[in-house]
Amino acid sequence: MPRVLIGPLNLLPPSSLAQAEPGGEPVTICNHNGVITAFHGLCPHRSGPLGHGNLDEGRILCPWHAWAFNCETGMLDGNPEIRLQQYSVTVEDGQIYVDLPD
Ligand code: FES
Repeated sequence: MPRVLIGPLNLLPPSSLAQAEPGGEPVTICNHNGVITAFHGLCPHRSGPLGHGNLDEGRILCPWHAWAFNCETGMLDGNPEIRLQQYSVTVEDGQIYVDLPD
């Protein structure tokens, strides 16, 4: 898996969400209580950019039709069969890196 730089951790304060496109791949990054997670950045409903939504009590809310995903597991509220693809995250020297699929 290629490891890509997302950006500085200090631009992602606790209880915030961001969208990035390293190498053209949409990625949603979440900081929930200091736990950083990353997911494929397009909603499985109609491809809304999840990182432009809101983080509400540990759930990523899609900006288009408000589907809600657990920000630790990527699981859709009320339907565990729908889950965001999750990427491994590391933080080194204040920078966030994500492992993307090949
Ligand atoms: S595109 Fe995300 S809820 Fe519709």
